[in-house]
Amino acid sequence: MKKLLSFVLVLAMLSLGVLTFASCSVKEKFVIATSPDFPPFEYLEGKKVVGIEVEIMQNICEKLGKKAVFKQIDFDSVLVGVAAGKFDCGMSGITVTDARKENTLFTDPYCLAAQAIVVKEGSSITCKADLAGKKVSVQTSTTAEDFCLENDYDVLAFQANNDAELALVNGNVDAWVIDDLTAAKMVKEYNEGKEDNAKLKILSEAMTTEPYAFAFAFGNEELVKQINEIQKEMLEDGTIAAIFAKYDAPYTAPEAN
Ligand code: ARG
Repeated sequence: MKKLLSFVLVLAMLSLGVLTFASCSVKEKFVIATSPDFPPFEYLEGKKVVGIEVEIMQNICEKLGKKAVFKQIDFDSVLVGVAAGKFDCGMSGITVTDARKENTLFTDPYCLAAQAIVVKEGSSITCKADLAGKKVSVQTSTTAEDFCLENDYDVLAFQANNDAELALVNGNVDAWVIDDLTAAKMVKEYNEGKEDNAKLKILSEAMTTEPYAFAFAFGNEELVKQINEIQKEMLEDGTIAAIFAKYDAPYTAPEAN
């Protein structure tokens, strides 16, 4: 009898243990640094970060069995923070460049974008060549800034993407250089309800090739390999293209890598 009692007791304790373990086994957090001023990739809906990359990342985290936690910071702090190990991952429409590869481990690119020129309707600037000697706004530490500095434009850099747009709207610069898909979203939103002559316009000359990927600190090679596998699956089964379609964004697949 005594034996039976202790057996039952042990059983009860065991199941209790299993229960508490189950309720405590919350998924490991995966902290993702992002600058949500970059529609349709990441932007705010109220206080919530939403967008193409948010959905891709949530998908990846689900497959990794981790809980995606998005931490909002300025774009120019994303890569530095990631490299310093402050975050698990950087997600910000980040273009893979050779210079960035020196301090950052990137996943394979999942799409291609390009830099675009935005001007006011009626502007005398109609192509890249017309930017020579002109004042151009960009977001700080972006590939747009690199591109404009390399071309010797008179560059005005802003921490927030919206301020780079505002500089053009207010006439403080002649043009605004920014990634094409984000230009399309922001200009569409700005133009809504405006008279034709007060609108912004995107010039159709694509000036660079920008492969987007997610950023990690060195030392995460195994994890990045795993994520590359997941990404590859999402590319092949059409998940990534479908996410772009959901946000009404044209999708360009990266070259096979
Ligand atoms: N693709 C560009 C770059 O990597 C711009 C990214 C800006 N991202 C943002 N979330 N504001 O430099």
